[in-house]
Amino acid sequence: PARPRAYRIGFSQCSTQGIWRQAVLDGMKRELSFHPEVQLRMLDAKDNSQRQAQQIKELLAGGIDLLIVSPYEPGPVTPAVEAAYETGIPVLLLDRRITSQEFTAYVGGDNVEVGQTAARYAASLLHEHGSVIELTGARKSSATAGRHQGFAQGMVAYPNMHVAAEVTGNWNITTLKAPLKAALLAHPEAALIFAHNDNMGRSAAEVLQQLGLSQKVGIIGVDGLALDLVDKGVFKASLLYSPAGEDAIRTALRILNHQPFKRENQLSTVVIDSTNVRMMMQQREKILTQQKDIEQQHGLLQGLRATYASQRTVLYGLLAT
Ligand code: FRU
Repeated sequence: PARPRAYRIGFSQCSTQGIWRQAVLDGMKRELSFHPEVQLRMLDAKDNSQRQAQQIKELLAGGIDLLIVSPYEPGPVTPAVEAAYETGIPVLLLDRRITSQEFTAYVGGDNVEVGQTAARYAASLLHEHGSVIELTGARKSSATAGRHQGFAQGMVAYPNMHVAAEVTGNWNITTLKAPLKAALLAHPEAALIFAHNDNMGRSAAEVLQQLGLSQKVGIIGVDGLALDLVDKGVFKASLLYSPAGEDAIRTALRILNHQPFKRENQLSTVVIDSTNVRMMMQQREKILTQQKDIEQQHGLLQGLRATYASQRTVLYGLLAT
Protein backbone atom coordinates (compact mmCIF):
# COMPACT_ATOMS: atom_id res chain seq x y z
CA PRO A 1 0.00 0.00 0.00
CA ALA A 2 1.03 3.58 -0.64
CA ARG A 3 2.53 5.37 2.32
CA PRO A 4 0.10 7.81 3.98
CA ARG A 5 0.82 11.36 2.89
CA ALA A 6 2.25 13.87 5.30
CA TYR A 7 -0.53 16.43 5.09
CA ARG A 8 -0.34 19.78 6.83
CA ILE A 9 -3.61 20.95 8.34
CA GLY A 10 -3.97 24.56 9.46
CA PHE A 11 -6.50 25.27 12.19
CA SER A 12 -7.73 28.80 12.79
CA GLN A 13 -9.41 28.64 16.18
CA CYS A 14 -11.45 31.69 17.29
CA SER A 15 -10.61 31.10 20.94
CA THR A 16 -8.87 28.64 23.23
CA GLN A 17 -10.71 29.88 26.31
CA GLY A 18 -12.90 27.42 28.17
CA ILE A 19 -13.35 23.67 28.45
CA TRP A 20 -15.21 23.31 25.16
CA ARG A 21 -12.35 24.68 23.06
CA GLN A 22 -9.91 22.42 24.92
CA ALA A 23 -12.19 19.47 24.18
CA VAL A 24 -12.09 20.33 20.46
CA LEU A 25 -8.31 20.17 20.45
CA ASP A 26 -8.19 17.00 22.57
CA GLY A 27 -10.54 15.28 20.12
CA MET A 28 -8.40 16.35 17.16
CA LYS A 29 -5.26 15.05 18.86
CA ARG A 30 -6.92 11.74 19.68
CA GLU A 31 -7.86 11.24 16.04
CA LEU A 32 -4.47 12.47 14.79
CA SER A 33 -2.69 9.96 16.99
CA PHE A 34 -3.74 7.38 14.38
CA HIS A 35 -2.09 9.52 11.69
CA PRO A 36 1.29 10.59 13.08
CA GLU A 37 2.39 11.72 9.61
CA VAL A 38 -0.24 14.50 9.59
CA GLN A 39 0.78 17.85 11.06
CA LEU A 40 -1.63 20.23 12.76
CA ARG A 41 -0.84 23.89 13.21
CA MET A 42 -3.30 25.87 15.30
CA LEU A 43 -3.47 29.63 15.72
CA ASP A 44 -5.66 31.19 18.42
CA ALA A 45 -7.53 34.38 17.43
CA LYS A 46 -8.48 35.15 21.04
CA ASP A 47 -12.04 36.18 20.18
CA ASN A 48 -11.00 38.79 17.62
CA SER A 49 -12.15 38.62 14.00
CA GLN A 50 -9.43 40.90 12.57
CA ARG A 51 -6.75 38.82 14.24
CA GLN A 52 -8.40 35.68 12.90
CA ALA A 53 -8.47 37.00 9.31
CA GLN A 54 -4.76 37.81 9.66
CA GLN A 55 -3.97 34.37 11.08
CA ILE A 56 -5.78 32.62 8.23
CA LYS A 57 -3.45 34.47 5.84
CA GLU A 58 -0.49 33.46 7.97
CA LEU A 59 -1.50 29.79 7.91
CA LEU A 60 -1.85 29.92 4.11
CA ALA A 61 1.51 31.64 3.72
CA GLY A 62 3.16 28.95 5.84
CA GLY A 63 1.87 26.28 3.44
CA ILE A 64 -1.06 24.03 4.30
CA ASP A 65 -3.04 21.35 2.46
CA LEU A 66 -6.35 22.03 4.21
CA LEU A 67 -7.76 24.75 6.43
CA ILE A 68 -10.06 24.17 9.39
CA VAL A 69 -11.74 27.35 10.66
CA SER A 70 -13.94 28.00 13.64
CA PRO A 71 -14.83 31.64 12.87
CA TYR A 72 -15.38 34.11 15.71
CA GLU A 73 -17.93 36.20 13.78
CA PRO A 74 -19.20 35.32 10.31
CA GLY A 75 -19.11 38.82 8.74
CA PRO A 76 -15.51 39.95 9.22
CA VAL A 77 -13.96 36.48 8.90
CA THR A 78 -15.77 35.49 5.68
CA PRO A 79 -13.48 37.32 3.16
CA ALA A 80 -10.37 35.60 4.56
CA VAL A 81 -12.07 32.18 4.41
CA GLU A 82 -13.22 32.85 0.84
CA ALA A 83 -9.73 33.91 -0.16
CA ALA A 84 -8.36 30.65 1.28
CA TYR A 85 -10.99 28.61 -0.55
CA GLU A 86 -10.23 30.42 -3.80
CA THR A 87 -6.57 29.40 -3.64
CA GLY A 88 -7.92 25.87 -4.19
CA ILE A 89 -7.33 24.32 -0.79
CA PRO A 90 -10.26 22.62 0.93
CA VAL A 91 -11.83 24.58 3.79
CA LEU A 92 -13.63 22.87 6.64
CA LEU A 93 -15.82 24.99 8.90
CA LEU A 94 -15.89 23.79 12.47
CA ASP A 95 -18.81 24.65 14.78
CA ARG A 96 -19.42 28.22 13.60
CA ARG A 97 -20.50 29.50 10.20
CA ILE A 98 -19.52 32.17 7.68
CA THR A 99 -21.89 34.18 5.47
CA SER A 100 -20.83 32.52 2.23
CA GLN A 101 -21.06 29.10 0.61
CA GLU A 102 -17.35 29.06 -0.23
CA PHE A 103 -16.32 26.17 1.95
CA THR A 104 -15.85 22.46 1.41
CA ALA A 105 -17.61 21.00 4.45
CA TYR A 106 -19.17 21.91 7.78
CA VAL A 107 -18.78 19.85 10.95
CA GLY A 108 -20.43 20.90 14.19
CA GLY A 109 -23.46 20.99 16.41
CA ASP A 110 -26.92 22.26 15.59
CA ASN A 111 -27.36 25.48 17.55
CA VAL A 112 -31.01 26.01 16.65
CA GLU A 113 -31.76 22.53 17.94
CA VAL A 114 -29.82 23.34 21.13
CA GLY A 115 -31.97 26.45 21.71
CA GLN A 116 -35.21 24.60 20.99
CA THR A 117 -34.27 21.76 23.31
CA ALA A 118 -33.36 24.26 26.04
CA ALA A 119 -36.81 25.87 25.71
CA ARG A 120 -38.54 22.51 25.99
CA TYR A 121 -36.47 21.55 29.00
CA ALA A 122 -37.09 24.95 30.65
CA ALA A 123 -40.82 24.46 30.14
CA SER A 124 -40.78 21.05 31.75
CA LEU A 125 -38.76 22.38 34.71
CA LEU A 126 -41.08 25.33 35.30
CA HIS A 127 -44.29 23.44 34.47
CA GLU A 128 -44.79 25.69 31.45
CA HIS A 129 -45.09 28.74 33.64
CA GLY A 130 -42.47 31.36 34.49
CA SER A 131 -39.65 33.70 33.54
CA VAL A 132 -36.20 32.98 32.20
CA ILE A 133 -33.08 35.12 31.88
CA GLU A 134 -31.13 34.37 28.71
CA LEU A 135 -27.38 34.79 29.10
CA THR A 136 -26.05 34.94 25.55
CA GLY A 137 -22.69 34.44 23.89
CA ALA A 138 -21.00 37.16 21.81
CA ARG A 139 -23.68 38.99 19.85
CA LYS A 140 -22.31 38.24 16.41
CA SER A 141 -21.18 34.62 16.84
CA SER A 142 -23.26 32.26 14.73
CA ALA A 143 -23.58 29.96 17.75
CA THR A 144 -25.22 32.78 19.73
CA ALA A 145 -27.60 33.57 16.87
CA GLY A 146 -28.64 29.92 16.47
CA ARG A 147 -29.10 29.26 20.19
CA HIS A 148 -31.08 32.48 20.63
CA GLN A 149 -33.29 31.84 17.61
CA GLY A 150 -33.97 28.23 18.62
CA PHE A 151 -34.81 29.27 22.18
CA ALA A 152 -37.22 31.99 21.00
CA GLN A 153 -38.88 29.53 18.59
CA GLY A 154 -39.18 26.92 21.30
CA MET A 155 -40.71 29.34 23.81
CA VAL A 156 -43.53 30.24 21.41
CA ALA A 157 -45.20 26.94 22.30
CA TYR A 158 -45.57 28.07 25.94
CA PRO A 159 -47.68 31.23 26.23
CA ASN A 160 -47.13 31.43 29.99
CA MET A 161 -43.38 31.45 29.73
CA HIS A 162 -41.33 34.59 29.08
CA VAL A 163 -37.78 35.72 28.58
CA ALA A 164 -37.62 38.38 31.31
CA ALA A 165 -34.23 39.71 30.21
CA GLU A 166 -31.42 39.05 27.79
CA VAL A 167 -27.93 39.58 29.13
CA THR A 168 -25.03 39.66 26.66
CA GLY A 169 -22.41 37.52 28.28
CA ASN A 170 -19.99 37.59 25.29
CA TRP A 171 -18.72 34.10 26.26
CA ASN A 172 -16.81 36.06 28.90
CA ILE A 173 -17.04 34.80 32.47
CA THR A 174 -15.79 38.03 34.05
CA THR A 175 -17.72 40.82 32.35
CA LEU A 176 -21.10 39.09 32.58
CA LYS A 177 -21.34 39.31 36.35
CA ALA A 178 -22.42 42.95 36.76
CA PRO A 179 -25.15 42.96 34.06
CA LEU A 180 -26.44 39.57 35.22
CA LYS A 181 -26.65 40.81 38.80
CA ALA A 182 -28.58 43.87 37.61
CA ALA A 183 -30.97 41.69 35.58
CA LEU A 184 -31.63 39.37 38.51
CA LEU A 185 -32.38 42.32 40.81
CA ALA A 186 -34.65 43.93 38.22
CA HIS A 187 -36.53 40.64 37.62
CA PRO A 188 -37.08 38.92 40.95
CA GLU A 189 -39.70 36.73 39.22
CA ALA A 190 -37.00 34.98 37.14
CA ALA A 191 -36.80 31.30 38.02
CA LEU A 192 -34.21 30.10 35.52
CA ILE A 193 -31.09 31.19 33.65
CA PHE A 194 -30.44 29.79 30.19
CA ALA A 195 -26.68 30.27 29.75
CA HIS A 196 -25.37 29.86 26.18
CA ASN A 197 -22.41 27.88 27.49
CA ASP A 198 -21.31 26.04 30.61
CA ASN A 199 -18.50 28.48 31.41
CA MET A 200 -20.93 31.39 31.63
CA GLY A 201 -23.33 29.14 33.57
CA ARG A 202 -20.58 28.45 36.11
CA SER A 203 -20.05 32.17 36.49
CA ALA A 204 -23.82 32.72 36.80
CA ALA A 205 -23.87 30.18 39.65
CA GLU A 206 -21.35 32.35 41.52
CA VAL A 207 -23.57 35.40 41.03
CA LEU A 208 -26.61 33.49 42.34
CA GLN A 209 -24.57 32.40 45.34
CA GLN A 210 -23.58 35.99 46.10
CA LEU A 211 -27.19 37.14 45.89
CA GLY A 212 -28.47 34.22 47.96
CA LEU A 213 -30.58 33.02 45.02
CA SER A 214 -29.05 29.58 44.43
CA GLN A 215 -32.15 27.76 45.66
CA LYS A 216 -34.59 30.00 43.85
CA VAL A 217 -33.07 30.29 40.38
CA GLY A 218 -32.02 27.28 38.31
CA ILE A 219 -29.40 27.16 35.53
CA ILE A 220 -29.30 25.38 32.20
CA GLY A 221 -25.93 25.41 30.41
CA VAL A 222 -24.73 24.38 26.96
CA ASP A 223 -21.69 22.25 25.95
CA GLY A 224 -22.33 19.19 28.11
CA LEU A 225 -18.94 19.52 29.76
CA ALA A 226 -19.65 20.92 33.23
CA LEU A 227 -20.72 17.46 34.37
CA ASP A 228 -19.53 18.12 37.92
CA LEU A 229 -22.01 20.99 38.23
CA VAL A 230 -24.89 18.91 36.89
CA ASP A 231 -23.92 16.12 39.27
CA LYS A 232 -23.89 18.50 42.25
CA GLY A 233 -27.22 20.01 41.24
CA VAL A 234 -25.70 23.46 40.64
CA PHE A 235 -27.02 23.14 37.06
CA LYS A 236 -30.41 21.62 36.31
CA ALA A 237 -28.96 20.46 33.00
CA SER A 238 -26.34 21.03 30.34
CA LEU A 239 -27.05 20.44 26.66
CA LEU A 240 -24.39 18.54 24.79
CA TYR A 241 -22.78 20.52 21.98
CA SER A 242 -20.39 18.04 20.47
CA PRO A 243 -16.83 19.44 20.27
CA ALA A 244 -16.49 17.46 17.01
CA GLY A 245 -12.66 17.46 16.98
CA GLU A 246 -12.47 13.80 15.93
CA ASP A 247 -15.17 14.23 13.30
CA ALA A 248 -13.41 17.29 11.89
CA ILE A 249 -10.12 15.43 11.45
CA ARG A 250 -11.85 12.38 10.00
CA THR A 251 -13.69 14.52 7.45
CA ALA A 252 -10.53 16.49 6.68
CA LEU A 253 -8.62 13.29 5.90
CA ARG A 254 -11.44 11.98 3.71
CA ILE A 255 -11.32 15.21 1.72
CA LEU A 256 -7.53 15.12 1.43
CA ASN A 257 -7.51 11.48 0.39
CA HIS A 258 -10.24 12.08 -2.22
CA GLN A 259 -12.68 9.78 -0.48
CA PRO A 260 -16.42 10.46 -0.40
CA PHE A 261 -17.51 12.82 2.40
CA LYS A 262 -20.61 14.66 3.51
CA ARG A 263 -20.64 18.45 3.09
CA GLU A 264 -23.00 19.06 6.01
CA ASN A 265 -22.25 17.21 9.25
CA GLN A 266 -24.55 18.45 11.99
CA LEU A 267 -24.23 16.59 15.25
CA SER A 268 -27.30 16.52 17.42
CA THR A 269 -27.66 17.50 21.04
CA VAL A 270 -28.80 15.61 24.09
CA VAL A 271 -29.93 16.83 27.51
CA ILE A 272 -27.58 15.89 30.34
CA ASP A 273 -29.30 16.12 33.70
CA SER A 274 -29.44 14.19 36.98
CA THR A 275 -30.92 11.16 35.18
CA ASN A 276 -27.90 10.47 32.92
CA VAL A 277 -24.99 12.55 34.22
CA ARG A 278 -23.28 9.61 35.96
CA MET A 279 -23.29 7.60 32.75
CA MET A 280 -21.81 10.56 30.85
CA MET A 281 -19.11 10.93 33.52
CA GLN A 282 -18.17 7.27 33.15
CA GLN A 283 -17.96 7.61 29.39
CA ARG A 284 -15.80 10.71 29.65
CA GLU A 285 -13.53 8.87 32.10
CA LYS A 286 -13.15 5.99 29.65
CA ILE A 287 -12.18 8.30 26.80
CA LEU A 288 -9.62 10.08 28.96
CA THR A 289 -8.07 6.75 29.99
CA GLN A 290 -7.86 5.68 26.36
CA GLN A 291 -6.23 9.00 25.51
CA LYS A 292 -3.62 8.43 28.23
CA ASP A 293 -2.96 4.91 26.90
CA ILE A 294 -2.44 6.26 23.41
CA GLU A 295 -0.06 8.95 24.69
CA GLN A 296 1.88 6.35 26.66
CA GLN A 297 2.20 4.10 23.64
CA HIS A 298 3.43 7.07 21.61
CA GLY A 299 6.03 7.72 24.28
CA LEU A 300 7.14 4.07 24.11
CA LEU A 301 7.35 4.18 20.32
CA GLN A 302 9.41 7.35 20.41
CA GLY A 303 11.71 5.75 22.96
CA LEU A 304 12.18 2.74 20.68
CA ARG A 305 12.87 4.99 17.70
CA ALA A 306 15.47 6.92 19.67
CA THR A 307 17.17 3.68 20.75
CA TYR A 308 17.14 2.43 17.18
CA ALA A 309 18.59 5.70 15.89
CA SER A 310 21.41 5.73 18.43
CA GLN A 311 22.23 2.05 17.79
CA ARG A 312 22.37 2.77 14.11
CA THR A 313 24.76 5.65 14.75
CA VAL A 314 26.96 3.34 16.82
CA LEU A 315 26.81 0.69 14.11
CA TYR A 316 27.72 3.16 11.35
CA GLY A 317 30.50 4.43 13.56
CA LEU A 318 31.85 0.88 13.89
CA LEU A 319 31.52 0.24 10.16
CA ALA A 320 33.36 3.44 9.34
CA THR A 321 36.40 2.49 11.37
C1 FRU B 1 -16.28 28.80 23.11
C2 FRU B 1 -17.66 28.49 22.87
C3 FRU B 1 -18.24 27.21 23.44
C4 FRU B 1 -19.50 27.17 22.65
C5 FRU B 1 -18.93 27.42 21.30
C6 FRU B 1 -19.88 27.80 20.28
O1 FRU B 1 -15.89 29.96 22.41
O2 FRU B 1 -18.30 29.54 23.44
O3 FRU B 1 -18.42 27.20 24.81
O4 FRU B 1 -20.30 26.11 22.79
O5 FRU B 1 -17.95 28.39 21.50
O6 FRU B 1 -19.32 28.20 19.09
